[in-house]
Parts: sequence; C-alpha cells; structure tokens
Amino acid sequence: MSTTLPAAGATHYAPNAELTRTAHVSGPEAYAALVAEAEADYEGYWARLAREFVAWKTPLTKTLDTSEAPFFKWFEDGTLNVSYNCLDRQVEAGSGDKTAIIFEADGGEVTTVTYSQLLERVCRASNVLRSLGVSKGDRVVIYMSMSIDGVVAMQACARIGATHSVVFGGFSAQSLRDRIADTGAVLVLTADQQVRGGKSLPLKAIVDEALALGGCDSVRQVVVTRRTGADIAMVPGRDLWMQELAGSQPSACEPEWVPAEHPLFLLYTSGSTGKPKGVQHSSGGYLLHAALTTKWTFDLKPDDVFWCTADIGWVTGHTYIAYGPLAIGATQVVFEGIPIFPDAGRFWQMIERHQVTIFYTAPTAIRSLIKASDGISASHPREFDLSSLRILGSVGEPINPAAWEWYHEQVGGGRCPIVDTWWQTETGGHMITPLPGATALVPGSCTLPFPGIMAAIVDETGEDVPNGQSGILVIKKPWPSMIRNVWHDEERYRSSYYPPELRGYYLAGDGAGRDAQTGYFTIGGRIDDVLNVSGHRMGTMEIESALVSCTDHVAEAAVVGRPDETSGEAVCAFVVLKGPRPEGEEAKRLAAVLRNWVGKEIGPIAKPKDIRFGDNLPKTRSGKIMRRLLRSIARGEEITQDISTLENPAVIEQLTRTN
Ligand code: PRX
Repeated sequence: MSTTLPAAGATHYAPNAELTRTAHVSGPEAYAALVAEAEADYEGYWARLAREFVAWKTPLTKTLDTSEAPFFKWFEDGTLNVSYNCLDRQVEAGSGDKTAIIFEADGGEVTTVTYSQLLERVCRASNVLRSLGVSKGDRVVIYMSMSIDGVVAMQACARIGATHSVVFGGFSAQSLRDRIADTGAVLVLTADQQVRGGKSLPLKAIVDEALALGGCDSVRQVVVTRRTGADIAMVPGRDLWMQELAGSQPSACEPEWVPAEHPLFLLYTSGSTGKPKGVQHSSGGYLLHAALTTKWTFDLKPDDVFWCTADIGWVTGHTYIAYGPLAIGATQVVFEGIPIFPDAGRFWQMIERHQVTIFYTAPTAIRSLIKASDGISASHPREFDLSSLRILGSVGEPINPAAWEWYHEQVGGGRCPIVDTWWQTETGGHMITPLPGATALVPGSCTLPFPGIMAAIVDETGEDVPNGQSGILVIKKPWPSMIRNVWHDEERYRSSYYPPELRGYYLAGDGAGRDAQTGYFTIGGRIDDVLNVSGHRMGTMEIESALVSCTDHVAEAAVVGRPDETSGEAVCAFVVLKGPRPEGEEAKRLAAVLRNWVGKEIGPIAKPKDIRFGDNLPKTRSGKIMRRLLRSIARGEEITQDISTLENPAVIEQLTRTN
C-alpha cells in the first residue's frame, strides 16, 4: 500500500492569534495537556468529560469495562436520555427561545424553530410513537429527507428509547427492504415526497415497494409526514399521517431513562464482504463524543451559526446535525436541497443569508463547485459576502491539497482554519483532526488525533511503523463513541474490526502514514474492497452482487475503483455477458441497462461510471479474478503484472474500452 505523505516543509498554516487566545482548546500547549491527561489516566480523563458534557439521570461510577473485549462497555451504570440532553437541558438552562434550527427548503423558503418549539415537536412525535405501542428497544426505520421533521423523528426515537435506523433517501426499495428486514423494525417513519434540485421525488411510494418485496413482517405501521402534499396511496390500518396524530398528542413527554450502553441507533455501512452491516452505537458514550467533538473541533461558541451539509442518512448527519449541535445548544442550518440548485452559488448564498460562521462539507462538493465556478461565474464564492465565516471543515474522503487551498482562499478568505476530520461510521465522531486554535495546518493532512484517541500506524502484525512510512491505521484503545457491535452479528464485528493478528487494536480499514518530522497523519484510502465515491462508502462486492443479479444479461462481474477528479473515486465494472460481447451502440445500450439496474438495486450513488465488456475476466490459474490487474486496467496504467497464464490475453484489450 502506498500513502503519499505531505512533503517535508509543505505549507503550514499556524492558528491565528485570536483563535489561539479564545478557542476552547487554546493553543498547542492546551492540546498537549489534554493528550497528557488522557495518557496518564485514560479512564479518569473520559470520566471527567462524561460528567462535564452529559447530564446523567443516574451518575456513572464505572468508566470502562473491558472484561468481554472486544465488546467494550462505557459508563455502564450511568443512565440518561439523549433527547433530554439535547433539548430539555437547553430549555432548562434558559435557552428555550434560542434558535435551534434554521431550515432552508430546496426552493429557498426558510423556517426556524427554537429549542422550546423543537422540544414540543419531539414530545408530540414521541407520544405518537408510544401511542402506537413503540417502546424501549424497538427498532424504527426512518426514510426521510433533510428536514426538521427528520431530526424530530430521530430525537423522538431517542426520547422513548427506541433504536432508530435512518436509511438515506437516495437508497432504492431493495436496499430499504434489506435494512428494514435486518433491523426487524416495528415501524417506518417517512414522508410523502422529498424535494431536491427543484424536483419532487417519491419516499412513501418506495417504502410501499420495499414492504411489498417481503421479509418485513415486523412492520406494523408506516407513519407519513406531509411534505409536498402529493396524492399518495395509504394502506388502511397500516399507514397513518404524522401531522394528524401529533396534533392531538400532549406537548410534553417524559423521557425514557436508559443505561449508557442502550443502542441509540443502527446505521448500515458497507464492508468488504457481504451485505451492508448494521453499525450499532450506544447512548452515553456516543453522546459524549458527539457533544465534545462538536464543541472542540469546531470551536463552537454560543453565538455561532453552524452548518453541516451532510444528509441525516449518513453518520455525519447523525453526529453533526441530529445530536452534537443540539447537545451543546448550538444554532444550526439544515438544508433540504443540493449544492448546485438553482445554481452552484447556493452554498455561498446560504452562508451569506444565514450568516453562517462554521461550515462543514465534503471534498467532493468543494471539487464540483470549483469546476462549476471555473472562469468568471456568478456562482463563484467571491461574488458573495462570506465574512461571517470563521471555521471550515472537511469530511468523508481525503481532500487534495489543490481543493484545500481553494477552500481556504476562496471560501475562507485565507483567514479560516480548515478542520480536515478523519473518522468513520464506526467511530461515531472525529478521531483525527486539527483543533482550530491549537493545530498548525498542512493541506491534505488530518493532522493529529483528537485528545484521548490513541491512533497509530502499524504493519500487518500490529507492530508500530516509524513515522515517515506508511502502514495500517489502528486505534489502540477503545473510546467512548466506538461501534458496539454489528447488529446481531458478533462474529462479523470481531472479524471486521478486531482481527487476531492486530493485538486487540481496532482496525480502521484505511492505509495511512505519519510525517517524519511533525507526526501528522495522512490518510491514503481504504485497504479493503471498499470504495469511497463522492464520500459515499460502497463495497465492490455489493455492486458485483447487484450486477450478477441481472440474470437476463450478466454472467459474471468484477468491480474496482479508480481515481476520479470530482468524485474522488469512481466505480468501474468489468462485465461478462451471457450473450455475445457487445460493441459500439449495442455496448452503450447494454451499459445503460446495467447502470439503471444497479441504480434500482442499490441506489443511484452506486451506478458504475465505467462499464467494460469482455469475453471473460482475467483469472489466476486457481480461478481467482486478478483484481490488481483490473485496477491497473481501470486506471489506464501500463500492465506490469504477469499475464502469461491468461487463457485469452485479448480480453485485456477488450476491457480497456469504456462504454
Ligand atoms: O476512508 C476513510 C474515509 O471515509 C471512510 C469512512 O466512511 P464512512 O463510514 O462513510 O464515514 C464518512 C464520514 C465520517 C474512512 O474509512 N474518510 C473519512 N474522512 C476522511 C476520510 N479519508 C480521508 N480524510 C478524511 N478526513
């Protein structure tokens, strides 16, 4: 594996004096002191923060239980309610009239809710769920778009101790069905439609389709929020309208106090094998890290206006929209639409309009907006007043130095630090990231571990690798917001994250290296068969399974990733058809058929960019597909692998042609 480390002497950006003076973690010494505190007394450090950042119903006396490692327990005897921590706590502290969410719809309409109003909406929705017999430990699937109602749905589950599983609104009926079936959900929360880029798209109709696919007998009810008012089919006895039910419910709801380890949510993510896995998160440890990282990484202060552009269907939208900002009483923007509608100036216009001070987005969005504003364009950030910004963030994939510099200069006016946050669905929150008042920045590096996170680079045997060399990224000690299990699959949890050869370290699945001088981390990308396309995580095997399930056409398929200027990585599929290998227009037609098929099976984000047809796939003597060779072909590289054993060397030439 090769990780390109930043060149020694790469540009450093020191934190500005104002930030160093005023930040929550103020200066390198403050950072070093926290790191030292965690090293000297790991459990004491986390227990201190757990008491500071979380309001406990029953105070914790135990910090970390390792007796059933790698199944770790944090703050086990403490009880709490996550929704109480996010909402009631702010109202009780006198912030009831503070704006919690500024919601901007796709079409530009703005709605705001205060903490008191949000609490009331969550209480009514919680009462609806309770009145339908949903109780602690039940699973609820949420298939909704970016909206206040989406956040309310998640908070309402948390309030009554139901475990939610949000499914991204871009996933297909089949993917939704798989998740509903795996969780055994008793109820699905959805909306009539979602609106994105000026178009109304179905949600409820896809839920209907998913349930009709079978295997979802656990679902008793579907509760639908009205978004567009479209005329949709409702199944009598099963489907109900949220607004109608909520209106007649009391505006208060006693929270369900749960033990810290109670599963707050399941979120499905791709691994290198099999179907997506249900990453199970806790209540106490997760909330602690959500609140703590929101405050320290973004240096979030009471007057800030925070905007995370992620969707609630991904972990970033969980931690940095639905939970973290609310847990520390922040004001945040929630956006329904997409960055390029009505034009590529949308983000900048919204920053200006809502006086956003902290902006958190993905490198893919930045790269596509750079492209869109190339030359003189009305959508270039310079056309907007972005002076309210003070901190920028990046998440989800490596940010290339050129995009970093553009973001820093054109969006941040050269004055705003960029926090390049490395983390994962499984980690619950930031793991390696600069802290704005403490860390000098190097474009393309996520810099140093968050205080208390024991990140390291090791080789395949778990041995430390010296700085300046690349290796495998691991986390040496358990941390409060870590994944607790793969939903009802302990074996998969063990084998995916705690392989025996790694000495009890958590295996992140990324290759990385540390700079020889500074010790700064640079992430090199996945070391497994997981792709990161526009910051969306996908398993190559999932896409292969989707392709071969197109039994009318496909005999065999192999999927690899290749670098792409905008999306970071692109999906490249090599396909052997049942019929003759198509050429020209016929190849194009069949490629379109297969792309649509994958879109329908998984979701549009999984559609292969390249589809290449061969008479067969290159295999070793023992019949294994030569993936490394396919990767080289996908990248258009010179072939250096030994291909002398190939039965039909002509396939190599066939597979270089993209349709
Ligand atoms: O490969 C890393 C990449 O995204 C993966 C995690 O994906 P997911 O679970 O979907 O979570 C995305 C949002 C946290 C990681 O294994 N990744 C995430 N952040 C970065 C990154 N790669 C480089 N730099 C980052 N800042």
